[in-house]
Amino acid sequence: MRGIVLAGGLGSRLLPLTKVTNKHLLPVYKDPMIYYPINTLINAGIKDIMIVTGGNNAGEFLRLLGNGKQFGLKHISYTYQEGEGGIAEALSLAEEFADGDKIVVILGDNIIENNIIKQKEAFKTQKEGAKIIIKKVPHPEHFGVPELIKDKVVSIEEKPKKPKSEYAVIGIYMYDYRVFDVVRTLVPSERSELEITDVNNYYIKNGLMTYDTLDGWWIDAGSSHDNLAHATQLVIKTGANKIT
Ligand code: DAU
Repeated sequence: MRGIVLAGGLGSRLLPLTKVTNKHLLPVYKDPMIYYPINTLINAGIKDIMIVTGGNNAGEFLRLLGNGKQFGLKHISYTYQEGEGGIAEALSLAEEFADGDKIVVILGDNIIENNIIKQKEAFKTQKEGAKIIIKKVPHPEHFGVPELIKDKVVSIEEKPKKPKSEYAVIGIYMYDYRVFDVVRTLVPSERSELEITDVNNYYIKNGLMTYDTLDGWWIDAGSSHDNLAHATQLVIKTGANKIT
């Protein structure tokens, strides 16, 4: 299985911090934000990793991560997203890298306390389709929100005014080979982006989606100044990316 870290976008919600640098290079306690999602993939046994970056100072990723030696990797692949066309657009740039394999996609600002070993192993044995991971949160309206009936996700709404559950779809997604064909069918949303939620709804509609929950804390560190500060506090208090 291959891993893709999405670290494009302009990070405008974190201005002025992102005026001269990419959001994913900002510090979360002792490490740049992007170290955490990379570690999440490595802890799950994924060693073949591509970083999709974008915006200003994209070259700094190369200076920071190099060939991945400090993570015990032999190599890291990179690609560049022009503009801010959405998470699904950023993902589409990894099609050649994926080369028909199953993939785990992680948003570059998502940090977790523990690991996704259990979820990744389950997806390995899943014949086809996709898997999302959900987490109960106090304010689901800030995220993609799943509607759950019995043990099935029947739809996901992106930042709904009236959430249909208390859960958020976290920014870690697992897909089979068909994901790139799905992205090609998408049209831009109201915020002019190709939405990952539309990709996930395609899999749901076709009966190809499973879900798991996540143990430990999860934070979308790049969505506000408060979350960025909170992420640092969580990492100081309990550490992140633990293998339990
Ligand atoms: O964090 C989980 C949430 O992430 C999900 O619950 C939502 O369903 C999903 O849409 C997403 O919501 P956000 O609005 O928080 O996504 P954001 O625009 O902050 O982008 C998250 C990451 O995706 C960002 O750190 C880098 C990457 N990205 C984003 C965009 C818009 C790209 O690589 N390229 C892009 O064009």
